[in-house]
Amino acid sequence: MDRVLSAVKPTGRLTLGNYIGAIRQFVQYQDQYEMFIFIANEHAITIPIDPKELRQNTKDLIALYLAAGLDPEKCTLFLQTDVDAHAKLGWVMTCMSYMGELQRMTQYKSKTINGETGITAGLFTYPCLMAADILLYDAKYVPVGIDQKQHVELTRNLAERFNHRYSDTFVLPEPLMASTGQKIYSLQDPTKKMSKSEENPKGTIDLLDPPAAARKKIMSAVTDSVGIIQYDPENQPGLANLLTIESCLTNESIDSIVERFQGKGYGELKKEVGQVVFDFLTNLQAKYKEIIQSGKIDEVLAQGAEKANYIANKKIRKVYKKIGFTITK
Ligand code: TYM
Repeated sequence: MDRVLSAVKPTGRLTLGNYIGAIRQFVQYQDQYEMFIFIANEHAITIPIDPKELRQNTKDLIALYLAAGLDPEKCTLFLQTDVDAHAKLGWVMTCMSYMGELQRMTQYKSKTINGETGITAGLFTYPCLMAADILLYDAKYVPVGIDQKQHVELTRNLAERFNHRYSDTFVLPEPLMASTGQKIYSLQDPTKKMSKSEENPKGTIDLLDPPAAARKKIMSAVTDSVGIIQYDPENQPGLANLLTIESCLTNESIDSIVERFQGKGYGELKKEVGQVVFDFLTNLQAKYKEIIQSGKIDEVLAQGAEKANYIANKKIRKVYKKIGFTITK
């Protein structure tokens, strides 16, 4: 069975974009592939974060993975810091990367172009750690939203470079992206990604937002003055975003939704999308609460760490031997 690996970093509250672009796919793939899904907490400190907040985000994220339908019997769920091999291979991958290729990463570039100050060295080198995350497990596929595609491509290049320098060691991974919902946009600025770090809370739907508040955000989403319901992301990005959200949460095709709304107004569509989001969050949050109260998170993580360590340690031993770190046979 081919292996699939992915992760989310607990930097803030999870958004509907994280669910649609990533977690929804993880759930779909768990019957088809051998899955490794983790909480990328080492990645969360590339930007300063309060320890209390990091702990809370981490607990929420694991509970949301489970609430969204990830089944620990089918999928190995673990915390990155429970597997030391990530940091070890992360360093190796940092030394395999060139400054130039990291400078070309769009996420890093967008931060520097915007003139942000206080960018940490970790934020610059984090794609190397992400490469290590993937390569440790021989993952063939990595389901991600479009913003992470470039990092998976870098991972491929680093794996190839290592294999070439030291002999065949790593599987070359491929990004897997959903046909719809690779990028969900801000409700207030539909040219920008819906993001955990967005300053305007009206633009982002958090998975733990009160459902009624989320419905309100959909009702006040920015659209356009064209006045026709059709799927035209270039000229009507706000509307296209709403159609995408509804389609991803209901599995009804965008074409079919558009057809049902022929001759109707944006208000009616927003009402329906708002209700879909309301129902989705109500259901997800009920499961989330049950999981938090059940106290089963620790057990799931312990079980996942054991399995992940077994595989990752085997790989790092191999890597250390090839590099020349290990001097005994
Ligand atoms: P992160 O935590 O920023 O995002 C987690 C996943 O959610 C996707 N995503 C979106 N998809 C659609 N629309 C959006 N608005 C949206 N916002 C986020 C992201 O593409 C991602 O798939 N570096 C990674 C975490 C990571 C990782 C890994 C992923 C660490 N190691 C190994 C895969 C494999 C990150 O920061 O994702």
